[in-house]
Amino acid sequence: MTRQAMARQAWVNGVYVAADEARISPFDRGFLFADGVYEVTAVYGGRLIDMGRHLDRLERSLRELKFGTMPDRHELEEVHRTLVAHNGIDEGYVYLQVTRGAYGARDFVAPETPRLTIFMFAEPRALIDTPSARNGTRIVSVPDIRWARRDIKSVGLLAQALAKTEAKVRGADDAWLVAPDGFVTEGASSNAWIVTKDGEIITRAISNMILAGVTRHALFDALGQRGGKITERSFTLEEAKAAVEAFSTAATGLVTPVVEIDGVVLGSGRPGAVTRGVQKIYYTAIGADVAKAAPWVET
Ligand SMILES: Cc1ncc(COP(=O)(O)O)c(C=O)c1O
Repeated sequence: MTRQAMARQAWVNGVYVAADEARISPFDRGFLFADGVYEVTAVYGGRLIDMGRHLDRLERSLRELKFGTMPDRHELEEVHRTLVAHNGIDEGYVYLQVTRGAYGARDFVAPETPRLTIFMFAEPRALIDTPSARNGTRIVSVPDIRWARRDIKSVGLLAQALAKTEAKVRGADDAWLVAPDGFVTEGASSNAWIVTKDGEIITRAISNMILAGVTRHALFDALGQRGGKITERSFTLEEAKAAVEAFSTAATGLVTPVVEIDGVVLGSGRPGAVTRGVQKIYYTAIGADVAKAAPWVET
């Protein structure tokens, strides 16, 4: 059987299943209360990128939500690798979701010892050579209406889904979220970065207001090793519009240039030199042969 003809394989609670046969109870607290967390780990060249940090963050999210029970980390690592292999993923991602489980009733109060529901699947997807990475994205600002614990990677993603839908309706590619104080928090599914005319790279500091992105963290490491400097501070929407460059980071978008915010064109309207440099550093860090995989970073 060819790979295309092979049924996509997922994993639910210890069992590998054809993805379209995966079943979860409608009484699951993930479905009823968004009582769950998730992770998305990029796969490049068949390798899982920063899986350890994603699993660290998953465990942190579960601890913060007082799950009490942790999934078996070794098993999760093994399932990541198996799904990549069985689904023939060279470039793409693995999705992992853990909820507090199903109890046949709708009770707001969480059980003391949850029976976790764990769901995983893998998907092929271009991460490096995408129109967004090549040409940049046009984004719109949307009020950040989320809850106060954005450091937890909760499956309660309605505000983000609405923001991205609004962006599409407004003819843009993505949304950045803006708190009532006028400061940008982050992208709807990414961390937000700007570059000033002096070449200073700025991103918001970690707090409960944003998700501590694994890609963000990796970029601090990769830039740091090259003596690059990043300023961690909040910036307003106005400051972002006045920036000469901007970009978003996320496991599935890696480093995505932003060339327009609310119709205001940044710099030349093309991804700028600093952003291209950051793309090159990050692609190299994940083992890409940039000359082959992303020759456009040089232009
Ligand atoms: C709200 C939000 N911020 C930031 C990120 C980036 O995190 P990471 O780099 O770990 O993918 C994501 C990723 O989904 C996100 O949803």
